[in-house]
This record gives sequence, structure tokens and C-alpha cells, in this order.
Amino acid sequence: MEKLETLIQELYQEGTREKNMEVLSHIRKLAKEEKQFIIPVGDANGEKVYRRLSLDDGQDVFVAFTTQAQVDLGQTTETLNQSVMDVLHMVHDTQGVSGVVLNPWKDSYFLPKVLIEMILDNKNLESEIKVVKGDITTFDGDCIVNAANESLLGGGGVDGAIHRAAGPMLLEECKLLNGCHTGQAKITKVYDLKVKYVIHTVGPIYSGQHEDEHMLRDCYWNSLTLARKNDIHTIAFPAISTGVYGYPIDKAAVVAVDTVKEFIREHPGKIELVRFVLFSADVLAAYEKVIGERTIL
Ligand code: APR
Repeated sequence: MEKLETLIQELYQEGTREKNMEVLSHIRKLAKEEKQFIIPVGDANGEKVYRRLSLDDGQDVFVAFTTQAQVDLGQTTETLNQSVMDVLHMVHDTQGVSGVVLNPWKDSYFLPKVLIEMILDNKNLESEIKVVKGDITTFDGDCIVNAANESLLGGGGVDGAIHRAAGPMLLEECKLLNGCHTGQAKITKVYDLKVKYVIHTVGPIYSGQHEDEHMLRDCYWNSLTLARKNDIHTIAFPAISTGVYGYPIDKAAVVAVDTVKEFIREHPGKIELVRFVLFSADVLAAYEKVIGERTIL
């Protein structure tokens, strides 16, 4: 529960949508782990009832505390422990109640019913990982990732397709980047492309050495880190290194999916959608096989 209090304090400081998603994601995690809130109760006709606060708009809200220390900040009250999941369902199902206030006496957090619904319907909070067959230059999200080479001066495959779709100015900008080491990632403008950013990363030329996997993993991890820094929420990856660079498709698919899942787990609420855009049926099948074998999150 202390982690939740910390996230709420950080939300007060940062006030960003991403931070709020982290708070919601953590409340969902607490609910799944069957953790408990402390609930203030009173007596009505000899029965224990949950205390409510009445708001100016005529709506009521329930109250819940994360820790006894939070309870002790206010006037003395009888309390009971209630599972987070039960509190969320109770608030959600009670008429005339608009939500629940966590820790009303210090760093309070109001959780309205609409966000409770998101938490209970947890797919809204999950970052989605999708696998599609197609041409990555047609992706209309925030960002596409290019499987480039260390010169960043264009080439064939997806690199050539992206440069053709973006137009010659992309190459002019890339010339100023002084190349890119294998596993690293650099970001540019998009010129004639639909998205907001292009992230260029350089996959390993497959050698069969163990290092290949680390460098391919770095491509996905560093691209997502760069995306997060640039407030990118939807991103498309090609099957990096599986073309000219000869990386076996089945092995590359496992590295790609596992790295993306790990990043999303460590940074909940940051990236909403990761789409693997695969150009051929065999690569699509390899990725679908990996996704099918693993629960995404
Ligand atoms: N959209 C999505 N995927 C594509 C597209 C496209 N328009 N064109 C090709 N691909 C796929 C390929 O089918 C392959 O599965 O991208 C994957 C990666 O293949 P390459 O583009 O050959 O990239 P890579 O294997 O990482 O080799 C990089 O190739 O193009 C040169 O300049 C590039 O030197 C670098 C090397």
C-alpha cells in the first residue's frame, strides 16, 4: 500500500495522464493480489454500515484508507478491512455513489466509477500487443521503427520502404545523425509519412553468437525507451534483422515479443499499443505462434 501512496504523491507532483495510469494500474494489481483497504464504518439500526461523505453535488462517495497511519490523521472512527476488489465492486454497484476517496485527510485520491470500470475491465489498462501483416509505412499511430544499418543512410527492405515513403528529406536528416551502433536507436522527423516520429534502430547481423540476442533485445528496449521519452503511445515495429540480416524468424519473434512484454510490465500505462507489422505470411505465423503461446501480460 505504501507504493500506492507514493504513486499518488507523484501524481500530485507530475499531474500527468501516464502517472494516473500507473496509479490505476497499481490499484488493479492490489485488487488482483487480494490486498485490503481499511474502511471506516458506523452503526445504523444496530448494523455496521460503510461511512459515506456527501458532496456538494448531492452525490455520496465512499471512503477508504491505504494504511492505519492514514486513518489516524482524522477523527477516531471504527474501521474494518475490506479487499480492494470488494470495495471497487461495492462502489461500482451502489446507486447514488459517484466513487471512492482514498485517504481523504492527506494526498487524497478520488476514484470515480468510470475509472473503477476501467480497472475492473482491465483490458483498458493493459498495453495492447498486436500482430498484423502489412506495410509498416501505412501505420497511422504515433511512431514507426525502421530496421536500418549503422550508416543510417538508407538501404533495401523496410529501410528502403520507409525512406521512399518519407521522401528525400529523411535521408538529409539522417546524414546529420553520425550513424547508429547496433542495438541503439535514434529518432527523426517523418516528412511525408503519416506518423509523428520515425525511430531508427540497427539490428544485429545474425552470427549465431549469444550476443545476437542481447543486441536484438536492445533494439526493442532502446526504441521503446526513446518512444517513452517522446510521449509516444502507439508504435509499430517491423521484424528487425529477419531480412537481409538473416536472423532466424522464430528466434527473432521470441526476442521481440518477450522484450516488449517486459518493457510494458516495467512501465505500465506508458505505451498503449505495440503493433508488430510483418511483411510476409511466414513471419506473421512465427509471431502469432509466440503471441499465442504466451499470455500477453
Ligand atoms: N513493412 C514491414 N516490414 C517490411 C517491409 C515493410 N514495408 N519491407 C520489408 N519488411 C520486412 C522484411 O520482410 C523482414 O521481415 O522487414 C523485416 C526486416 O528485413 P530488412 O528490411 O531486410 O531488415 P534487416 O533484416 O534488419 O536488415 C537491415 O537491410 O534494408 C537493409 O538498410 C537495411 O542494411 C540494413 C539491412
